[in-house]
Amino acid sequence: MWFDFAHQPGDEGEIFSTSPHPLTQSPVPSPQSPIPSPQSPIPNPQSPIPSPQSPVPSPMPTVLAIETSCDETAVAIVNNREVCSSVIASQIPVHQQYGGVVPEVASRQHLEIINGAIAQALEQAKLDWESIDAIAATCAPGLVGALLVGLTAAKTLAMIHEKPFLGVHHLEGHICATYLSEPTLDPPFLSLLVSGGHTSLIYVKDCGNYETLGETRDDAAGEAFDKVARLLKLGYPGGPIIDKLAQAGNPQAFTLPEGKISLPSGGYHRYDASFSGLKTAVLRLVQQIEKDHGQVPVADIAASFQQTVARSLTKRAIACALDYGLDTIAVGGGVAANSGLRKNLQAAAIEHNLRVLFPPLKFCTDNAAMIGCAAAEHLSRGHRSSLTLGVESRLPLTQVMKLYQLGNRE
Ligand code: KG4
Ligand code: ZN
Repeated sequence: MWFDFAHQPGDEGEIFSTSPHPLTQSPVPSPQSPIPSPQSPIPNPQSPIPSPQSPVPSPMPTVLAIETSCDETAVAIVNNREVCSSVIASQIPVHQQYGGVVPEVASRQHLEIINGAIAQALEQAKLDWESIDAIAATCAPGLVGALLVGLTAAKTLAMIHEKPFLGVHHLEGHICATYLSEPTLDPPFLSLLVSGGHTSLIYVKDCGNYETLGETRDDAAGEAFDKVARLLKLGYPGGPIIDKLAQAGNPQAFTLPEGKISLPSGGYHRYDASFSGLKTAVLRLVQQIEKDHGQVPVADIAASFQQTVARSLTKRAIACALDYGLDTIAVGGGVAANSGLRKNLQAAAIEHNLRVLFPPLKFCTDNAAMIGCAAAEHLSRGHRSSLTLGVESRLPLTQVMKLYQLGNRE
């Protein structure tokens, strides 16, 4: 979760992404649009607080969604499963000098950018507040200070404009990202979630109804990419850099451990994996080559590492889909952008007569369109969040319905 990036190769010219450096280029909010500062208005107890139960949910709701769980300040407007606008202001240039995300710096950056991003999302969608049915924000999991900025902005806007408010689980957002390009997809299906902080196989039974079937025991896939990039001195964020370098390398150059988990009863776990051994194996390899005064073959190591991760994820996802009789695998999270994983999983899926779906590159990494899409799914089922909802740095996806419990007076 600490490493991130927003702009993927191949995204050029696609809808509404902002420039990668938000500080100099994000627009000042229009004086017409009443955008509150997330620092300011504390709800006035006298002002009429909208009942989260009203109004009656629209079957095709339009949601303004905010995502600030890590180092992307993102705002989007989504109509059901269709993206009306998507603004993603990346903080990468700010964090790059530290080699990773500094939580306190991320929170301050979100504060500076959020109002401009909200104004821009409305402007790009050519919509005003009247057309918005609900306001949503990521509230878990993520960096607490960063989450608070988006959540406070969303709750304040919901109060001012008297709209329902929905808190969204970040990983449910990554699952719903697939709906943006596959609007006819419906559960059940298997989700392979591969982000900077999580690597899981999720049985998607319905909106809000999830079962975790497998996960990594230590490092998430994205984390492994970032750590290996760091030890190869490639910089931050590691995933896209390794992906690019791997194109020029030989994936068979080195045999690396796939991260199998032994079972006490013998054999190996079919769905769980571990990536920390793989990372250590790369470290030992580099140390050995350096000790022998050799030139570290960075591209070959990147290609071999990427191939090992892709093979491990593919094997487990396919086994899981077949065992549970699920014919579709929807991949989500930043590592879903990885070319090696895309190629491996596509090929294996064809072989086993399964369907595999990847979101467009710009919706693999963190964005607010996926959050809006998840919120729209809940809203159309009548779900609402309480205005007293707080943020949580950790919250299992299986507890997502906790976000839609209302108090007695709501
Ligand atoms: O989903 P995401 O944007 O943020 C979290 O929720 O964590 O994922 C970020 C992670 C980072 O670890 C980043 O290095 C990785 O996704 N990533 C990639 C690629 N693009 C982003 N990993 C491998 N290949 C890529 N092309
Ligand atoms: Zn994410």
